[in-house]
Amino acid sequence: MNPPGRWPGIVAAFRHELGLLPAGAPALSLGEGNTPLVPARRAGRGQIDLHFKWEGSNPTGSFKDRGMAVAVSGAIAAGARGLICASTGNTAASAAAYGARAGLPVTLAIPAGHVAQGKLAQAVACGAVLLGLDGGFDAALAAVREAAALRPDLAVVNSVNPLRLEGQKTAAHEVVAQLGRAPDWLAIPVGNAGNITAYGRGFDECRAAGRAAAQPRLLGVQAAGAAPMVRGAPVDAPETVATAIRIGRPASGDLARAAVAASDGRFLAVSDDEILAAYRFLAQEEGLFAEPASAASLAGLWRALESGLVAQGATVVAVLTGHGLKDPERAVTLGAAPRPVAATGAAVAAALP
Ligand SMILES: Cc1ncc(COP(=O)(O)O)c(C=O)c1O
Repeated sequence: MNPPGRWPGIVAAFRHELGLLPAGAPALSLGEGNTPLVPARRAGRGQIDLHFKWEGSNPTGSFKDRGMAVAVSGAIAAGARGLICASTGNTAASAAAYGARAGLPVTLAIPAGHVAQGKLAQAVACGAVLLGLDGGFDAALAAVREAAALRPDLAVVNSVNPLRLEGQKTAAHEVVAQLGRAPDWLAIPVGNAGNITAYGRGFDECRAAGRAAAQPRLLGVQAAGAAPMVRGAPVDAPETVATAIRIGRPASGDLARAAVAASDGRFLAVSDDEILAAYRFLAQEEGLFAEPASAASLAGLWRALESGLVAQGATVVAVLTGHGLKDPERAVTLGAAPRPVAATGAAVAAALP
């Protein structure tokens, strides 16, 4: 791995692994990838060796930047005149930033009223055109695919674009390099099911290249109100506090099912209360302020520990997919508001815990 300060970004660092990217494509980068693997302080409950892959430290604050760097590099090589995607927010924020960097106009189809404020702010600030569609993410993605068929000059940068998963698989390569081996389990939130598919592919490549002896078991975690992979059927009106994974018809569902089966893994669902308990724990006990969807990975892992699915002593990586600042309203709602205190030393001293 390159020394700090000289990290060239995903396309340049992994070009040999990105088989689907045309050879002459530029290496567009905002410095994505090379994210920290942070050992857990208490979240492993003294039972497992737990590490967090902290994807909130990517340039726009989520794992989407890995795939976006590759997809937009590919779009430039293909001569695209603009980018379009549907999004629960993080893809939008990432597309807006990488589009701005590439000098390409970006159109974002978002489920009106269901995107966290931080993500909206990022997209607006980067100058993207936002379309608020009625209906959820699934309807927005279907509409974008239809619109793109009428406008072949635009590149679709959703995870149905194969370059997105190519970019996202690099996180698995990093995990193996950082741990020195593959973990026993990888816990990861699942929405559209692209990221878990990408990790499966990346770990497979590490094993084929002899860098890991085995494939980790994949633990795909969904919110109970949006759990089509667990139920084995689409969910028509998905609902969860974790808006990033509020998806009822995962576009990569079949690929994800195959990846999880090949790893002898499992999908499971957790309640919104479990997600929010993990969300608070991550911030208050680990110092990792991740967004609610990311906390699903820890909530699911705790479930799997309690049921004995994940054995004592296992080495586990939980992916924290996005930064907590993405959803400031959620944090403020759950936390205590500032107490009014006079601006004197005595008053502050009297207010100390
Ligand atoms: C923060 C966050 N976590 C998890 C996911 C789920 O990833 P995927 O849709 O690839 O399953 C998303 C998708 O938008 C996300 O934004």
